[in-house]
Amino acid sequence: MAEKDRNQIPTADFTSDEAYLSGFANSFSSEAIAGALPGGQNSPLLCPYGLYAEQISGTSFTSPRKLNQRTWFYRIKPSVTHEPFKPRVPADCKLLSEFNQSKSSATPTQLRWKPVDVPDSPTDFVDGLFTICGAGSSYLRHGFAIHMYAANKSMEDCAFCNADGDFLVVPQKGRLWITTECGRLQVSPGEVVVLPQGFRFSVDLPDGPSRGYVAEIFGTHFQLPDLGPIGANGLAAPRDFLVPGAWFEEGHCPEYTIIQKFGGELFTAKQDFSPFNVVAWHGNYVPYKYDLSKFCPYNTVLFDHSDPSINTVLTAPTEKPGVALLDFVIFPPRWLVAEHTFRPPYYHRNCMSEFMGLIHGGYEAKADGFLPGGASLHICMTPHGPDTKTYEATIAQGNEAGPHKLTDTMAFMFESCLIPRVCPWALDSPAIDPDYYKCWIGLKSHFSPEGTKDPIEARENGPKDSR
Ligand SMILES: [Fe+2]
Repeated sequence: MAEKDRNQIPTADFTSDEAYLSGFANSFSSEAIAGALPGGQNSPLLCPYGLYAEQISGTSFTSPRKLNQRTWFYRIKPSVTHEPFKPRVPADCKLLSEFNQSKSSATPTQLRWKPVDVPDSPTDFVDGLFTICGAGSSYLRHGFAIHMYAANKSMEDCAFCNADGDFLVVPQKGRLWITTECGRLQVSPGEVVVLPQGFRFSVDLPDGPSRGYVAEIFGTHFQLPDLGPIGANGLAAPRDFLVPGAWFEEGHCPEYTIIQKFGGELFTAKQDFSPFNVVAWHGNYVPYKYDLSKFCPYNTVLFDHSDPSINTVLTAPTEKPGVALLDFVIFPPRWLVAEHTFRPPYYHRNCMSEFMGLIHGGYEAKADGFLPGGASLHICMTPHGPDTKTYEATIAQGNEAGPHKLTDTMAFMFESCLIPRVCPWALDSPAIDPDYYKCWIGLKSHFSPEGTKDPIEARENGPKDSR
């Protein structure tokens, strides 16, 4: 409970990790005042302490039990208590949730962006959010959008509500202090947070200039991937997902604004209280965070390079088995031990589309040019793979490469079965790298019909022919 002084940012940890509830897809309950949670029923005639009961449904009422997600809030005033929504002014907004020919472009070209500059002018999380690409439609409840944000100030007297889909936020620079209706989360670079459709939240930026990536999915929610032959353990463990405990603030907040993203457009509504007035809640539709350093990677231990799906943290499925609307895959620090193997990622064309970002360090397939805070997009069936420098350095090393640990790296990929269209402001961005294609142009032919069938053996045994 807090009487919030909106001009004061706390200096202590926003919420220590010990304060969270833990588990993935659990049914949680939490109360900031003992006894605030009604027992035995969800909607009593009179709730404890005079609270209002309100349900948020993240799936249809009739979704199968294993997929059904909803949470009950017990709050000081219900969220309906606000003035009418109006289009936000100014309307200049670089957000999209419908990807068609009118507002976005198709291109098979490999795209890469340098890190986006954090603006000098005061910019909060909402103003600093812009769409890069996406597919489908939030109205049709099928599709996704990929956004980035670059901001430098906390949201003040306003909360954001995304009616279109779930946000998976990947901070790259600067911590996020996120207040939600379920409670508060501190999310540092190296952690990710999921903010489900419809939740109201506010983002403080305790470190000032901040930057990151956001994947938004329409019409479904993230799950943990099946583990198949890996067994019962490995990859992301359910207990490492953290959910905030109940926290509320009360008091008169004149001119408080709810900013609602609806169909990719922003609307605002005024109310005179904070939406973070939930004293107790229970349910399984919740915001949660995950520390990527807790991911337990699996990989080849003898030869060849595993497909990147081996490092899936979360997946948003489609109705087709094994086909994701959006996979969130990471490339964490790990040992490389494969023998007689080209260890970097293989050259590749994919029916899926791949958006990549880099949180810190370097990426094993790109010696130059792919920087923390930058991004790349390799769309359906567009070729991609290691740059010339990486290829030449790898084969020069030959078969002598012993076990090697990749350190100081955390790259990630959003991969989708849908083919994204790209926003004009992303294509025209000063951050786009017009020379990206040149990183492969230098790849030369090593083909020699008269050469040996086993070049590694030939190299290790020295030159045999005297041509
Ligand atoms: Fe690929």
